[in-house]
Amino acid sequence: MKTEVIILAAGKGTRMASSLPKPLHPLLGKPLIEYVLAAVQPLSEYPPVMVIGHGGEEIQQALADKARFVIQEELLGTGHAVQQAETILNDRTDLVLVVYGDMPLVRHQTLEKLIETQKNHSGPVTILTVSEEDPRGFGRVARDGSGQIRAIIEEAHATPEQLKITELNAGMYCFQAAWLWENLKKLELSPKGEYYLTDLVGVAVEADQTVASVQVEDSRELLGINNRVHLAEASQILREQINQSWMLSGVSIIDPQSTYIDPDVQIGQDTVIFPNTFLQGATRLGKDCLIGPGTRVFNSQIGDRCEIEFSVVEESQIEDNVDIGPFSHLRRGAHLASGVHVGNFGEIKDSYLGEGSKMGHFSYVGNAQIGKDVNIGAGTVTCNYDGEEKHQTVIRDGVFIGSDTMLVAPVEIGENASTGAGSVVTKDVPPDTVVVGVPARKIGKKDKK
Ligand code: UD1
Ligand code: CA
Repeated sequence: MKTEVIILAAGKGTRMASSLPKPLHPLLGKPLIEYVLAAVQPLSEYPPVMVIGHGGEEIQQALADKARFVIQEELLGTGHAVQQAETILNDRTDLVLVVYGDMPLVRHQTLEKLIETQKNHSGPVTILTVSEEDPRGFGRVARDGSGQIRAIIEEAHATPEQLKITELNAGMYCFQAAWLWENLKKLELSPKGEYYLTDLVGVAVEADQTVASVQVEDSRELLGINNRVHLAEASQILREQINQSWMLSGVSIIDPQSTYIDPDVQIGQDTVIFPNTFLQGATRLGKDCLIGPGTRVFNSQIGDRCEIEFSVVEESQIEDNVDIGPFSHLRRGAHLASGVHVGNFGEIKDSYLGEGSKMGHFSYVGNAQIGKDVNIGAGTVTCNYDGEEKHQTVIRDGVFIGSDTMLVAPVEIGENASTGAGSVVTKDVPPDTVVVGVPARKIGKKDKK
């Protein structure tokens, strides 16, 4: 049986009080609609049809070919929204799964169960429900004495008796496609001026057809995002799940409460994460690392046995056995080969540091190619910017840069050369040469080691 998916995301998201459309609000670094897309991805061989509102171009741009889009020009309710997808899907599918775009924690297993139940059911629809004491504004599921579903009653229209019902409509449904298109036309305008998708349950019952249901055990899956308080709640739940799953697969997290790991991060076994640490984006961490406390790593690859404390690492590549910090900043394009040591108050950008090189104390290295076993003395600066352009600094293997050296780029320091403390190097230095002063002059050859 063919299944297609419709995601409703045309709502204005007014309660977010934001210029960013609700589906694009980030949840642990990813737009919340991406979670819904990931949950429905295994359910159909076709990309879902997403119903977006007037002005939804931003969503369309962000998601590109991850979905097919239809625009609901006027927000006339969830029933009307589903109707907009008919022209795309019409008779090309047997089943239609409808999900609301603001429930990022729903699991694909739950949606699979919804589809399976509908496949084994002769009636036209299966709905997802949850039993909860706190109704959070959800529609109530009314059943008769024999337990058959009779209707979904929206909170705004419920009697005090109906308000007491604790079985709630989750907002995910699996329909027989032909029945859906046929009966959407029959929906009547609610007193609120909307066509409620939920009224289809009543339509089925009127026609003596049965409505099946699947109950969700863990109501946290159905947390709907209507405002930023809900967004923070969802982030908390997701974070706990991610941290727990890493701990169960061999990563030590000293304080899960203060550890923020984005969903796409990878971490090797026996790595230890100390408090107040953020691992973000597509970061990959190797085995046996010590990360944190107080560290943020964004979109970076880090090898095995690295130690990073109180530091920020962004879009960088770090090989094995590297130690960084406290208080250093690796910016875009930093690449540290194995065994590199970066101590306190270092900043590295668009630079390569070769195997075993050391940069212990308050230095800036930008647009530099640095060889193996180089010592960068305290306070060294690559003066890479002349106010208009960036220039390269090249430091060959075995060089010793004395404390407080200014390397005025473009400049190259030859293999095994040395600069004296406080030198301002404006010209290339040949191999095995010692330079000192301002501007730095040659004072002789280096003793061969
Ligand atoms: C809806 C259900 C309610 C259920 C709850 C679960 C209806 C009538 N009610 O209520 O029974 O308990 O979800 O969260 O369906 N949307 C459109 N176009 C529209 C209106 C809504 O695309 O014209 C989209 C919204 O972007 C949102 C979803 O549909 O993703 C749900 O709409 P919302 O207004 O939040 O419905 P609820 O009042 O929460
Ligand atoms: Ca809602």
